[in-house]
Amino acid sequence: MARRTAILNNKGGVGKTATGMRLAEALARKGRRVLYVEGDPQGNAMRRFALRWFEGMRGTNEAVQADQVGVVRQSIHRIGWQEDYADRIRIVPAWLELDDRTAEAGIPGSHLRLVKGLQGADDDFDETILDCPPSLSHLTQLALAASHQAIVVTEAEQDSIRGARRAMEYIAQKAYALHNEDLKVTGAVMTRMDATRSVDRAQLASAREIFGDLMWEPVIPRLNVYKEIDTNGQPITKATGEKAGIARASFELLADTFEKRSLTV
Ligand SMILES: Nc1ncnc2c1ncn2[C@@H]1O[C@H](COP(=O)(O)OP(=O)(O)OP(=O)(O)O)[C@@H](O)[C@H]1O
Ligand SMILES: [Mg+2]
Repeated sequence: MARRTAILNNKGGVGKTATGMRLAEALARKGRRVLYVEGDPQGNAMRRFALRWFEGMRGTNEAVQADQVGVVRQSIHRIGWQEDYADRIRIVPAWLELDDRTAEAGIPGSHLRLVKGLQGADDDFDETILDCPPSLSHLTQLALAASHQAIVVTEAEQDSIRGARRAMEYIAQKAYALHNEDLKVTGAVMTRMDATRSVDRAQLASAREIFGDLMWEPVIPRLNVYKEIDTNGQPITKATGEKAGIARASFELLADTFEKRSLTV
């Protein structure tokens, strides 16, 4: 069984998907087999992994709707990148229809549909990364019910840090109700940090106080090159310019921290 890690923050646009994807990529470059489960109807990861939607394609929505043991197996796809290591990454994609599953949240046991679908389906992977939407509602609950651990991602900004804190409190309060008592937040990752700005430096110091030992190193810098490769749907190996090396090394180091600090399952 793969180690399952949910990536979340209550707030939107803080860099959850970018962090989850680049972490998945860095782990694959280190030889790990990674399944990336997109739990956000925006479908950003699918596009950034260069996977095109096709008629009849199955994804997270279909797996959750089916509500059957192991059904996620039918929703696993190769990604569009050509790099050798891309062969170790698979995705369960999502798009707008996933939002419709939220309407079924009142059905008893509905929050367990993803964990049921993943059962046996990620046995051939080392890591499963679950990308959450910017909320703590049903779609995030599906991911949390299925995960061994959670990582909160934040920017060096007050509302983003609050959102990460809220996500941590939510897990502490609701893990039992989600039938996943052992779920733990194992890390807080700060990203999009501009060290030249005093406000960012002050917010980083504040985050270090709040999250303490949970803060993972390194802090991921705010770099245009990350935005460029996300926009173009490219792997990090395609990053160019003087900051490309820093961009790659930051996630290589974060992947090292991930391996050291993650729960053993
Ligand atoms: N370290 C970084 N430096 C510069 N830009 C970044 C960095 N990380 C992410 N971005 C960019 O910031 C934007 C928001 O990132 P992303 O979509 O990953 O956030 P998110 O939290 O997943 O958003 P949402 O809540 O909508 O799911 C994207 O354009 C992304 O390319
Ligand atoms: Mg996202």
